[in-house]
Formats: sequence, C-alpha cells, structure tokens
Amino acid sequence: MNQHNRLSPFPSRILERKLLTGGESTKKTYHLSLDLAGSGIAYAPGDSVAILPENDPLEVDVFLKAAGCSGNEEIVDSRSQERLSLRSYLLRKANLQKPSPALLKMLQTPSLPGEEQTPAEWLLSAPNAPFCYHEIPSLLLPLLPRFYSIASSQHLFPDEVHLTIAHVSYLSSKGKLRYGVGTHFLCDRAEIETTEVPLYLQPSHGFKLPSDPNASIILVGPGTGIAPYRAFLQERLYKKTQGRNWLFFGERHRKHDFYYADFWLSLEKQGRLRLDLAFSRDGARKIYVQHRMWENRKDLWEWIEEGAFFYVCGDAKEMAKDVEAMLQKIAADQGGLSEEDARRKIKELRAQKRYLADVY
Ligand SMILES: Cc1cc2nc3c(=O)[nH]c(=O)nc-3n(C[C@H](O)[C@H](O)[C@H](O)COP(=O)(O)OP(=O)(O)OC[C@H]3O[C@@H](n4cnc5c(N)ncnc54)[C@H](O)[C@@H]3O)c2cc1C
Ligand SMILES: NC(=O)c1ccc[n+]([C@@H]2O[C@H](COP(=O)([O-])OP(=O)(O)OC[C@H]3O[C@@H](n4cnc5c(N)ncnc54)[C@H](OP(=O)(O)O)[C@@H]3O)[C@@H](O)[C@H]2O)c1
Repeated sequence: MNQHNRLSPFPSRILERKLLTGGESTKKTYHLSLDLAGSGIAYAPGDSVAILPENDPLEVDVFLKAAGCSGNEEIVDSRSQERLSLRSYLLRKANLQKPSPALLKMLQTPSLPGEEQTPAEWLLSAPNAPFCYHEIPSLLLPLLPRFYSIASSQHLFPDEVHLTIAHVSYLSSKGKLRYGVGTHFLCDRAEIETTEVPLYLQPSHGFKLPSDPNASIILVGPGTGIAPYRAFLQERLYKKTQGRNWLFFGERHRKHDFYYADFWLSLEKQGRLRLDLAFSRDGARKIYVQHRMWENRKDLWEWIEEGAFFYVCGDAKEMAKDVEAMLQKIAADQGGLSEEDARRKIKELRAQKRYLADVY
C-alpha cells in the first residue's frame, strides 16, 4: 500500500551515495540508494519517486537578512494552514530561486524583471518594501517536489530505492555559481543515514515493461535517461524473461561517464543485452544515440516490425525529439514509407503503447 503523498511523505534517508562519473568528468552524476524500510512503498520498474528537497540554509539566511527577520517569527503557511517558524517555512516550503508575481507586484517592479534575480535579491534592491513577516508565505512561490526515475527493481532491493542523479550546477549571467535545489540537497548537502529525505512514489503513466515476458525491448537513454533501464534489466533478470533487450546509451566520455558500465558490459557478455554506445565528446565529431540507431537501422526496424517495444528516457528539450525524428527516418528508409506514412507509423506505435517516452 502506498499511503505516502506530498502532504504525508515518507521520511527516508540516504543509505549510499556514489559518484558515477570519473574524477576528470565535466559533470557530477551520482548513484543514490534510499531507505524504504517500514514505508510500505511498493514500486515497479518505470515508476519515479518525488523528493521534497530542503533549501540551502545559507540561502535561507540571505533571505532572512534581506527581509529583516530573525527566522524565529511564527507564521501560518497559507497553503497548508500549518503553523511553523519562518525559518522552517523558508527551508522546506518556499521557492527561494524564482520571484512570484505577488512579490514583484508588492515591490512595484517593472513588468520585465531580471529573470535570474532571486526573491532575496529583489528585496535587497527595495529596502523600504512595505510588508510584514506574516505576509511572506503569500509573497513566495511554493517549493515543488523533484521527480527521479527509479533505477532499481524492488525484487532485488525490497527496502531500497535507487536513483541516478545529475548534480545541476551552472553560472548565472552575473557569473555566480548556482546549484539546482533538489540535486544540491541530494548530492551534496544531505548527510548519509542522517538527514531526513521526504519522498513519495510517483507511479508511471504507462512507461513500464511489456506484460509479455517474451517481448523485445529497445531502450534509448542517454545521460540520466539510463536510470529506469537499470530497473527494467534487473527485473527481467530476476524474472528470467526470454525477451530480447537492446540498449542505446550515450554520454560525454567513455572513460568518465559510462554509468553502471560493469552491469551493462556483463549483460552484454552473457548475451542478455545488445549494447550500442554513443560518447559525444570522445571524437572529433559529436556522436549521439540517434546516430547509433541509424547505423543499426536494419536490425532496429526488424525488431520493431517483429513487435519490439521502443522506449526513450532523458532530456526532453532536444534529445527526445531528435530520437523520434530518427525513428521516423528509419521507418521511411527501412519500411519504404513516405514521410507522411512514417509519421503515421510512429503515431500507431504510440497508440499501441509500443513507443513509450519518459522525458524531462
Ligand atoms: C518524471 C521525471 C523523472 C526524472 N528523472 C530524473 C532522473 O532520473 N535523474 C535526474 O537527474 N533528473 C531527473 N529528472 C529531473 C529532476 O526532476 C529535476 O528537474 C532536476 O534534478 C533538476 O532539479 P534541481 O532542483 O536540482 O534544479 P532546479 O533548482 O529546479 O533548477 C533547475 C533550473 O536551473 C536552471 N538551470 C539549470 N542549468 C542551467 C544553465 N546551464 N544555465 C542557466 N540556468 C540553468 C534552469 O532554470 C532550470 O530550470 C526527472 C524529471 C521528471 C519529471
Ligand atoms: N541547461 C543546460 O545547459 C543543461 C546541461 C546539461 C544537462 N541539462 C539537463 O539536465 C538533465 C540531466 O542531463 P543528463 O546529465 O541526463 O544528460 P544530458 O546533458 O542530457 O547529456 C547526455 C548525453 O546526451 C548528449 N546529447 C546532447 N544533445 C543531444 C541530442 N539532441 N540528442 C541526443 N543526445 C544528445 C550529450 O552530449 P553533449 O553534451 O556532448 O552535446 C551527452 O552525451 C537533463 O534534463 C538536461 O536537459 C541541462
């Protein structure tokens, strides 16, 4: 029974956090194992968890200073009607990254605010702003849950959930180092076995293994898009299913960024997995997963025509669209279809739930 939700999350803790990227990698991606013992949470491959992160206490201090508050003030969260200290509210419930329309209205700012300014920076730029501390919850946006694809099968890890998380960091236009709230909490700030990590299950909407154990699956997942496929393959191995498995994985460098390499390579060695890799920054020209799909178009189309399920997971902005365009191109090339018919073919695959996407 999954009785936990956003209002009543399970207080989990991180059991293990391992860097998946090598020391010289240009990114930091982690494998996390979280404790589910006693939670009653039952998950299936393809599901995600929602994590309720905590803001960085340093950012809370910056906001409190800008607002002229100590943090000990008692306030009522206008959304949940909960009474709590202003500091707790700012830590767990407030979006301290993005200003709300209500805050900008109160500050009477021009209609096109500097998009990267935080609420604290806005307050600092208007020191005489007319507001009282108890209005703060109505002046800030809520801190939203962050979703992560589950990277484990519960048959193998009954009391754990595994995640694959890319630590988001970037420089603001003013050259300031900024971190993603959720990933900084999970990958850096939360202490192993100590810090409470509130979470609940977010069941997938159809992104799941075929019920037919003999069905073939084609998995396209560059970057953290690999996460649900680790769960898929663990589950299929546990259940000793006979269906064929084919993975297209891509990252920047083979040497530093081949996540879970031992697992995939050993499956390939055992003949349980066909594996195609695209390391984008190892050569003179970028190689992406869709290029590997094209190189293997004959087999790929045969698998689809024989009933294989096609999955894509990871970046929604570019990758997922390019992968779909490539599958359409392969349909036209190998199926001898017009552009229009190839488009219709992909639409049919979607309708048959044989083209499944989980992108973000
Ligand atoms: C169903 C689902 C499954 C997901 N699964 C995974 C998963 O398995 N692994 C995973 O790592 N993520 C996954 N995500 C994404 C995840 O939920 C978060 O969105 C992601 O981790 C970023 O969260 P954050 O709180 O760290 O960043 P936030 O605090 O939300 O910050 C992200 C924001 O930072 C800004 N930003 C980021 N980079 C830059 C840049 N270079 N320049 C300027 N601004 C920038 C942008 O405004 C961006 O919107 C999934 C999302 C969904 C919806
Ligand atoms: N806003 C940003 O600048 C930024 C940067 C990184 C990640 N992200 C986001 O962070 C999340 C996690 O990213 P991630 O770590 O999972 O991996 P990712 O950044 O999506 O990259 C994984 C691999 O996919 C490649 N790639 C880039 N564009 C592609 C395309 N159009 N088609 C196919 N492959 C492509 C990358 O190559 P190259 O990087 O060599 O091109 C890399 O080898 C994603 O939501 C992503 O959108 C944002």
